[in-house]
Amino acid sequence: MTTAEDLIARSNRLGADPKNTNYAGGNTSAKGTATDPVTGQDVELLWVKGSGGDLGTLKESGLAVLRLDRMRALVDVYPGVEREDEMVAAFDYCLHGKVGAAPSIDTAMHGLVDAKHVDHLHPDSGIAIATAADGENLTKEIFGDQVVWVPWRRPGFQLGLDIAEIKAKTPQAVGCVLGGHGITAWGDTSEEAEKNSLWIIDTAAAYIEEHSKAEPFGPALEGYAALPEEDRRTKAAALAPTIRGIASADQPMVGHFNDSEVVLDFLAHEAHPRLAELGTSCPDHFLRTKVKPLVLDLPADASVEDSITRLKELAVSYREDYQNYYDRHADQNSPAIRGKDPLIVLVPGVGMFSFGRNKQTARVAGEFYVNAINVMRGAEGLSTYAPIDESEKFRIEYWALEEAKLQRMPAPKPLATRVALVTGAASGIGKATAKRLAAEGACVVIADLDLAKAQAAAAEIGNSDVAVGLAADVSDEAAVQAMFDAAVLAFGGVDLVVNNAGLSLSKSLLETTERDWDLQHDVMAKGSFLVSKAAASVLIEQEMGGDIVYISSKNSLFAGPNNVAYGAAKADQAHQVRLLAAELGEHGIKVNGINPDGVVQGSGIFAGGWGAKRAEVYGVKEEELGKFYAQRTLLKREVLPENIANAVFVLCGPDLSHTTGLHVPVDAGVAAAFLR
Ligand SMILES: NC(=O)c1ccc[n+]([C@@H]2O[C@H](COP(=O)([O-])OP(=O)(O)OC[C@H]3O[C@@H](n4cnc5c(N)ncnc54)[C@H](O)[C@@H]3O)[C@@H](O)[C@H]2O)c1
Ligand SMILES: [Zn+2]
Repeated sequence: MTTAEDLIARSNRLGADPKNTNYAGGNTSAKGTATDPVTGQDVELLWVKGSGGDLGTLKESGLAVLRLDRMRALVDVYPGVEREDEMVAAFDYCLHGKVGAAPSIDTAMHGLVDAKHVDHLHPDSGIAIATAADGENLTKEIFGDQVVWVPWRRPGFQLGLDIAEIKAKTPQAVGCVLGGHGITAWGDTSEEAEKNSLWIIDTAAAYIEEHSKAEPFGPALEGYAALPEEDRRTKAAALAPTIRGIASADQPMVGHFNDSEVVLDFLAHEAHPRLAELGTSCPDHFLRTKVKPLVLDLPADASVEDSITRLKELAVSYREDYQNYYDRHADQNSPAIRGKDPLIVLVPGVGMFSFGRNKQTARVAGEFYVNAINVMRGAEGLSTYAPIDESEKFRIEYWALEEAKLQRMPAPKPLATRVALVTGAASGIGKATAKRLAAEGACVVIADLDLAKAQAAAAEIGNSDVAVGLAADVSDEAAVQAMFDAAVLAFGGVDLVVNNAGLSLSKSLLETTERDWDLQHDVMAKGSFLVSKAAASVLIEQEMGGDIVYISSKNSLFAGPNNVAYGAAKADQAHQVRLLAAELGEHGIKVNGINPDGVVQGSGIFAGGWGAKRAEVYGVKEEELGKFYAQRTLLKREVLPENIANAVFVLCGPDLSHTTGLHVPVDAGVAAAFLR
């Protein structure tokens, strides 16, 4: 194995176990020789995990490769701690070739420490010691002289120099605890570094386990115990739109809900308000969670109405507090304030909502708060939790290097942060629509009658950070409510609802049974009424605007034979568009419709008998129906599910922000169905 391969294997092993480091946290390195292609001679190199990415899935492309002689020569030009940030740019002049990732801020620590292999990690157990008020004494007591305490210092060149000095002065040490932050361990071989890292992590965990007081979070709080699962999910769904609206006041966010034991236990005990107020400590943690969460200060059985009222009050004070925090620490060089809303909202008895600009970020923010809870439990169990100072948090949150990282992020896709729910999306037009909306950055909920089919369609689009499949019969009010509850728990809320579920029976008036009539009206007319009603209650509460799109039909206007029940149900849907556009406009909710025609490919409606009937009515073969429809059109083009999907995107995309109550024909031109 090459040095780099060895390093990747060790990193993947360490990153695979969440006890070792939080998601995307920490970095590892190895030093070794390779042939310099310029001289043909050996050259000493440093392979170090670069900026971004996660240890568990690290690949060679995620490593930065630097020349060790040049990297270490930086010590001679280092201008001092006041200007240490300049050294990050200097790393680029130490790179060996163009391969690999950008060097991260922690590169100095890896390069300057005189050990072949170095691991820097953020284990909950290690950070618990690092954030204990008497962390220095605890480090001595737990590790003797094998692990050295390093008081908090912001990551950077100086921290690298400090740790290098410790390693030189204490040859027996295998690593250190970095106050407020994490651990660093080293070894002469890759195995030794890994063994030392794990020894520090496991020894700290075992010590906490053995010496922690029984109730680190204090006694149980009367009335704050977790609600039974069904009740807390129902309450979480009822609160979700309000909470997402609060988290999105400055910029729209996607949400994630977590009601794990760790979260519920924290909220059920007396110390949680005090500890939550102290905020997180490890830089990785608070960059994703903000300095502190918003905590609802009501018991588990508080009513939804009371909870909403109180959450809205708390949001106002949260924003004031955040502004004050910014004003206390910002100077004229600080980047502008980045939004005052909480990223973590805790609801006793119910769980935690976490937010981000996409689902993965929202989910990881929640994971980090769980890490922070574990850290607080460990620290309080042994001592008292003492995170780094607020001013240091500000320095990191508004660090010029952090700002530059944010500026380098690619521009978001047009539907980023928007949550779409498409009914009948396991097939045909609905599936194509869900795919398109996801491709434009939306999170999508695929609802259909059959759960397995809905989940399969979701899996075709992406993992559960992108798409989830749900079973729901849109003609059943309780099922529609359950569908919205599941959707808001999956992504925090809903923004964009497509009434697409439908079915079609081609029959003459005399053949059409009462049941035929009811079925089509139940699914399309009543179904979209129920879906729009449930959607509107979420959209109005969120106060983030929204879109409702109806997949109506050419047949809502055009009168042909053998179509009375379907055509009438479609006309009903079409008028719902206008009625709801008129009613919901004051909430910033747009309601528009699409009139497709002759979408044969991919359509379950056509495959399931309707196609055969229509072909019979028109006197053509069923397999030629698509072509037949194309010839009837002004443009002589066959209409595909993707053409309808495109129109849905345009209607709810950024360009038609001022259009509501509109129907867009997507039928390749059928003069008889022109709108007038
Ligand atoms: N295909 C066309 O030419 C065409 C033309 C105009 C309008 N439309 C409309 O487009 C929509 C989609 O049609 P398609 O051609 O993609 O058909 P499709 O059969 O491929 O898809 C419709 C989906 O709706 C689902 N569905 C049916 N009843 C449901 C219910 N009660 N609850 C939840 N889901 C239900 C079905 O399971 C199916 O997956 C329908 O409303 C249809 O009327 C289609
Ligand atoms: Zn770190």
